[in-house]
Amino acid sequence: MHLLSALLVLFSLSDGFSPNCPGRCSCDSEQSVQCYRVMEVPSGIPPTTKRLYISHSKIQHLQQSNFTRMLALEDFILLASGTESVENDTFKILNTLKTLELWKNKLRRVPRALPASLEVLKLNDNSIYVLHGSDFEGLKKLKVLELKNNLISSLSPSMLSSLVSLQSLMVDDNNIESVTGPFILPHLKHMSMENNKLHLISGGFFTSLQSLQFLSFSGNFLTKIPINLPKSLLSLKMERNQLKVVRFQDMIHLENLSHLYLSENLLSSIDGAQILANLTTLEVSQNQLQTLPFRLPVRLQKLDCSNNLIQKVTAQDFQDLPDLKHLFLDNNVVSLFEAGALQKCSQLSNLALEQNLLLSIPLRLPKTLARLDLKGNAIQDIAERELKDLKQLQVLNLRNNKISALDLKALECLPRLRHLYLDGNPWNCTCTLLRAREILKAKGTDVKGGRCAAPAEQQGESWMSSKKIMKQCEQHLHLTEKSKEVKKKPKSEESSSIKLIMDDDDYDYEID
Ligand SMILES: *[C@@H]1O[C@H](CO)[C@@H](O)[C@H](O)[C@H]1NC(C)=O
Ligand SMILES: *[C@@H]1O[C@H](CO)[C@@H](O)[C@H](O)[C@H]1NC(C)=O
Ligand SMILES: *[C@@H]1O[C@H](CO)[C@@H](O)[C@H](O)[C@H]1NC(C)=O
Ligand SMILES: *[C@@H]1O[C@H](CO)[C@@H](O)[C@H](O)[C@H]1NC(C)=O
Ligand SMILES: *[C@@H]1O[C@H](CO)[C@@H](O)[C@H](O)[C@H]1NC(C)=O
Repeated sequence: MHLLSALLVLFSLSDGFSPNCPGRCSCDSEQSVQCYRVMEVPSGIPPTTKRLYISHSKIQHLQQSNFTRMLALEDFILLASGTESVENDTFKILNTLKTLELWKNKLRRVPRALPASLEVLKLNDNSIYVLHGSDFEGLKKLKVLELKNNLISSLSPSMLSSLVSLQSLMVDDNNIESVTGPFILPHLKHMSMENNKLHLISGGFFTSLQSLQFLSFSGNFLTKIPINLPKSLLSLKMERNQLKVVRFQDMIHLENLSHLYLSENLLSSIDGAQILANLTTLEVSQNQLQTLPFRLPVRLQKLDCSNNLIQKVTAQDFQDLPDLKHLFLDNNVVSLFEAGALQKCSQLSNLALEQNLLLSIPLRLPKTLARLDLKGNAIQDIAERELKDLKQLQVLNLRNNKISALDLKALECLPRLRHLYLDGNPWNCTCTLLRAREILKAKGTDVKGGRCAAPAEQQGESWMSSKKIMKQCEQHLHLTEKSKEVKKKPKSEESSSIKLIMDDDDYDYEID
């Protein structure tokens, strides 16, 4: 904070040099002025100014006289300045004003008589508690209206009926309990009413919202997905509501819907989403699903079923998802993962299975995997056959399992591995494990190794960095190094003197 203040002071001092720029302001060019920590709208702002930005100031009241010499103004932004009231008609004279942003102030109502030229109005983070039809009268050009984080408790069509060009309406974080339709906003594309108190959306609400593409009702008390959603919809967010069932039949007309977010509801099963032929993302995290969704859409690219109660993963669940790239099944109770269950997902690159009950790494995972997360399961060992086809794998997380030994062959078959997480396992720090460490180091893999659980004298040692273990194994390693020299033709002086660094082809026959 002190640093910020110091910077701001510096800022304002340095501006004094620009002849027409008021104190505490900086005039980037003749047409853009920024002011900080002012006590009123500075007089002496150049009359050609098109953009005026004021923040962290103390301007309790705005009045018309403050703007009479700024008739070229197009954007006025007043941020975090404690503004409580705006005189009637303050902005009326600014007939080129396009953007008005009065964020983080203390306004209790929408300023009156806004100019008809306005295209963007943002009044987020104020204390506006009611909207009147007259507030937006004549704003035929307004495209963006944002009223997030205010105290509005209801929204009705008459309030917004003038806004014939409106494309985006954001009223998140208010106290809206009811909305009655129909809203006649033929160009509205984005509507967001997150974190309000909606229990029900009436059937007629959407009849005149024929351009709506992005709709969010996340964070309300809705028990049903609204019916009669507009056909134009691309994305629907219904997270953090009280949905118990989803009737995809009611959404059959949403032929372009590509993103559906249903996380944090009370869903115990999902069936029939395949009706949404163009759906690419489905998120159903934090519900009460005991099985994977049945009959998923064929175009699906991302499926998030994390934080549910899913017990098994079978080939049947995934037979028809050729485009799937991201699959999140973490934080479930998966104990059964059928071998080859994901074989038909020939694009899968990201598989999250952390925090489940798996006893081994699933067999025949897709060759396309780049990231595999198995943290927090009960896996006891790593076998070559589980990993040998994963030629694209870059990140493997096996943290917090029950693994005590590493199969060197299993590591060898992962040519692109860059990050390997092995900590939180009960490592048995034998000299073979130490050899694995050298192989991994030579490969350049970034490894989080963790600590030894056995043998007793190594307990608590970090096996990727411990000098103690290395000392004990030195003899062992040295001997094998010697024997190798006998078996193979001697290499150049240089390489044979570096005992712990081995070439790729050396360790094949070195394993005990
Ligand atoms: C601008 O408004 C303030 C109140 O915030 C007022 O005291 C001041 O006289 C006005 N300045 C001009 C130039 O009208
Ligand atoms: C401001 O305008 C409103 C309605 O347009 C009116 O009721 C109110 O009396 C006006 N206030 C002043 C101070 O003129
Ligand atoms: C669906 O998308 C296509 C392609 O963008 C578009 O031509 C069509 O009008 C859209 N359908 C609806 C109902 O909006
Ligand atoms: C949606 O799916 C239909 C039929 O499956 C197809 O004709 C249409 O082009 C798709 N729309 C988009 C935007 O992909
Ligand atoms: C650790 O490995 C050694 C050698 O393979 C074995 O004899 C020993 O029993 C293992 N210790 C534990 C606790 O598994």
